Amino acid sequence: MKITVVGAGKYGSTTVQRIAQAGYADEVVMTDIVEGLPQGLALDMNQSRPLEGFETRIVGSNHYGPTAGSDIVVVTAGKPRKPGMSRMDLLTDNAQIVGGVAREVASSSPDAVVIVVSNPLDEMTALFQKVSGFPAERVIGQAGMLDTARFQDKVAEKLGVSPLSVEAITLGSHGDTMVPVPSKVSVEGKPLGELLSDDEVEQLVQATRDGGAEVVALLKTGSAYYAPSSAAAKMVAAVAKDTKDVMPVCAWVSGQYGINDVYLGVPARLGRGGVEEIVELDLTESEVEALRTAAEAVRSKQADVDGLV
Ligand SMILES: NC(=O)c1ccc[n+]([C@@H]2O[C@H](COP(=O)([O-])OP(=O)(O)OC[C@H]3O[C@@H](n4cnc5c(N)ncnc54)[C@H](O)[C@@H]3O)[C@@H](O)[C@H]2O)c1
Repeated sequence: MKITVVGAGKYGSTTVQRIAQAGYADEVVMTDIVEGLPQGLALDMNQSRPLEGFETRIVGSNHYGPTAGSDIVVVTAGKPRKPGMSRMDLLTDNAQIVGGVAREVASSSPDAVVIVVSNPLDEMTALFQKVSGFPAERVIGQAGMLDTARFQDKVAEKLGVSPLSVEAITLGSHGDTMVPVPSKVSVEGKPLGELLSDDEVEQLVQATRDGGAEVVALLKTGSAYYAPSSAAAKMVAAVAKDTKDVMPVCAWVSGQYGINDVYLGVPARLGRGGVEEIVELDLTESEVEALRTAAEAVRSKQADVDGLV
């Protein structure tokens, strides 16, 4: 199993480390345009192997030769937000970067399943699919896993319970039209609505939508990467190990939830082929409405992106 991570910045390097430490891949290749950066990080990570007890070999490169024939490619190349910026402010710069990466990956790893994380996420996932020409089920975006983990953690902190006791899901876009789904949240099996008032639930929903900006404002340079890399690594593991687990991901929706032909955050079954099924949850009327609103917002932006590459 060969896995490539494009971009050796904060998100890319922590993702490489998490995948390599999990031990199921033979090789993880990390590429970046900055000379020496991926090579230096690879050397450092390889030297942690005797200490951490894993054998996966990590390779750093400034070109795509060593990535050839990868089974899975994670795309983290691109600029992160600065305080006060929205993810959408990254659109023009990152479209150029992700478009270029898509051309390289299409020729070096034509059979790969691709997981895109560069922002704005829904638009960059759509752009990667279009430029690469890969079938839509092989190009997936990571956002819902992270947004869901943030929602779970906010609920756990509010109630003073273990984050592991909270079930939740977040759909929609990785942006203002994110759709945390309160009707599907439970804590130790109890519905959230029995534990908190409507106002308290709404505050947690808003805090989840603002979760990325909260970290950016504190860090001042760069955006979150510990939880984001955990989210991407979970998706990579599901594809690599063909687990068929259902996860909230940005996937091509064609008819489900009454929504057509757009990349959007939905629950999907992941396996060796990428997205193997979009799962339709039983949502409330207002949640479905919010999902459709998110779909229209993403659709109009995705149309803008088509003009950029
Ligand atoms: N989807 C999510 O949930 C989520 C969460 C956090 C961050 N992000 C996004 O992930 C991206 C990366 O974030 P980061 O914190 O790692 O940023 P970073 O600045 O630390 O790293 C980005 C890296 O990309 C590299 N790069 C630029 N152009 C490249 C190219 N053409 N080919 C290869 N590498 C290239 C840069 O040299 C840099 O090392 C950003 O767009 C950020 O907004 C997404």
